[in-house]
Amino acid sequence: MTEFSDRDSKPGGYTRRSFLKGAGTVAASGVVAQTALAAAPETAEGRALVPRLAGEVEIQLEVNGKTQKVKCEPRTTLLSALRHRVDPPHTGTKLVCDQGACGACTVLLDGEPVCSCMTLAVDAQGREIRTIEGLADGDALSPVQSAFVENDALMCGFCTPGFVMSVTGCLEKNPDASLPEIKTACSGNLCRCGTYPHIFDAAVQAGRQMKQGGTK
Ligand code: FES
Ligand code: FES
Repeated sequence: MTEFSDRDSKPGGYTRRSFLKGAGTVAASGVVAQTALAAAPETAEGRALVPRLAGEVEIQLEVNGKTQKVKCEPRTTLLSALRHRVDPPHTGTKLVCDQGACGACTVLLDGEPVCSCMTLAVDAQGREIRTIEGLADGDALSPVQSAFVENDALMCGFCTPGFVMSVTGCLEKNPDASLPEIKTACSGNLCRCGTYPHIFDAAVQAGRQMKQGGTK
């Protein structure tokens, strides 16, 4: 008589026995990796192995037109890389929910707004990353930034960089965007202070300015 009956089988073909065996293998792998890490610094080969086991990789990011090498783990988000790994740190991009729900971390990736907290830094290689720090030309704010100031479109300001990037992405593609189109472009951005009417006034004003010749 077998130890486990067919009732133990799962749709994927797993039994309690195979699960426990697999779990044991995973646990053993962890022990092997820990042991290798501990022993690795003893030899040149081992020293080269440590970063790989620890997951560090060197990548190249192009942030606001400047390319730089960045060391991070494959699991590092673009948001974390921007705030903590690039030099100088780009802290204008905000960490709020860290789960794709608020849009405070919005940056432009090849012109498209993305939540940088939901994007891996390694996946941003070879792509044009633009952050709030890259919009102004010296002391001259971009049309969207100026319009936010003129329309008093911020209170605490935590959501503001994300809104500015979403509006910028929208208007750079189409400065003629209608108010509903602007609202759709900002649908992933939340403002807890409730400055939405001012934000949308600012976006419409910026669209008018960009149509008259502003490019950013
Ligand atoms: S911090 Fe990325 S969506 Fe909220
Ligand atoms: S200004 Fe405070 S969250 Fe939008």
